[in-house]
Amino acid sequence: MAEASSERRARPAEKRRLVWEVGLATRAAVADAIGKVLGRVFGAPPVIQFHTRRRRTTVSVFLTERPTARAVRYAAEQLERRLRGGGGVGAAGRLTVRPLPPQDWAESWKRHFRPLEIGRALLIRAGWHRRRPRRGQALLVLDPGLSFGTGQHATTRFCLRQMVARRVPGQQQSLLDVGTGSGILALAAVKLGYAPVHAFDRDAEAVRVARANARRNHIRAGLRLWRQDLARLPRRPARRYELVCANLDAAVLLARRKRLADLLRPGGTLLLAGVLQREFARVRAAYAALGLRLRSSQREGAWRSGAFERTR
Ligand SMILES: C[S@@+](CC[C@H](N)C(=O)[O-])C[C@H]1O[C@@H](n2cnc3c(N)ncnc32)[C@H](O)[C@@H]1O
Repeated sequence: MAEASSERRARPAEKRRLVWEVGLATRAAVADAIGKVLGRVFGAPPVIQFHTRRRRTTVSVFLTERPTARAVRYAAEQLERRLRGGGGVGAAGRLTVRPLPPQDWAESWKRHFRPLEIGRALLIRAGWHRRRPRRGQALLVLDPGLSFGTGQHATTRFCLRQMVARRVPGQQQSLLDVGTGSGILALAAVKLGYAPVHAFDRDAEAVRVARANARRNHIRAGLRLWRQDLARLPRRPARRYELVCANLDAAVLLARRKRLADLLRPGGTLLLAGVLQREFARVRAAYAALGLRLRSSQREGAWRSGAFERTR
């Protein structure tokens, strides 16, 4: 993941500039992997869009210069290598490069990064949006250039709604965000009053972006952000939390279930997201075997997310 350039207002110079889109249509299950490859090869933040009605997922990066044929070939090779065995062979052949009319570019940012309200509790918007929070509504301003950074994804929204719903007035509740990405969940947690809030990501770039977003929101106290792979977290955690958010993917959630469950206090809640509907039963059974009971779940598009409570 990369941090997009600073705030994007539709300035006249920007309107005139041609933008190139490199992307492809794919399956939701491999969109993250494709986004990572494109982001790394072209040095631009990937944008993943789930078109629920058309049942289609597209992954793109937007560039201000036409990419060289060599870079596109390299990206195609990397995609083939990464997706081999994951059912994605042939994806690279569908990689397209197209210039976008400048007005489309300006509009595409506006279309894909709408302000997001979680009830009356929280407003998340990009720096260039003008929407003001309602009275008593917490405001989080985020870099809009990231796919998992603005709450446009169903799995992120599920976690945000649960975080809002699970606040207990007058009680101090700790929260851990595993795989923080742009920092959206951790930063929203601070704004919603969770304390302390801890967050990590294995991707150094994600940690850098999350820190930049924390600065942008003047968040200093109550938050600890660091680089960490969940797989290498000590087996006996230094502390346990009331709420743990893990918006990852089914494979990681299954492989690391013991570590994730151990991060919860008795009675604590684990939010599991990044799971496709057809994978959910398996994830649920694996966590039930560890004493985690499903308290609520929600389906949105291809995704099903769940809130699991630790009962022992
Ligand atoms: C789907 S994004 C979620 C971002 C954000 N928490 C949200 O809800 O929008 C998943 C993030 O988890 C990170 N991640 C994946 N596997 C991880 C692991 N084993 N340890 C730590 N971070 C991981 C990725 O780098 C990525 O930033």
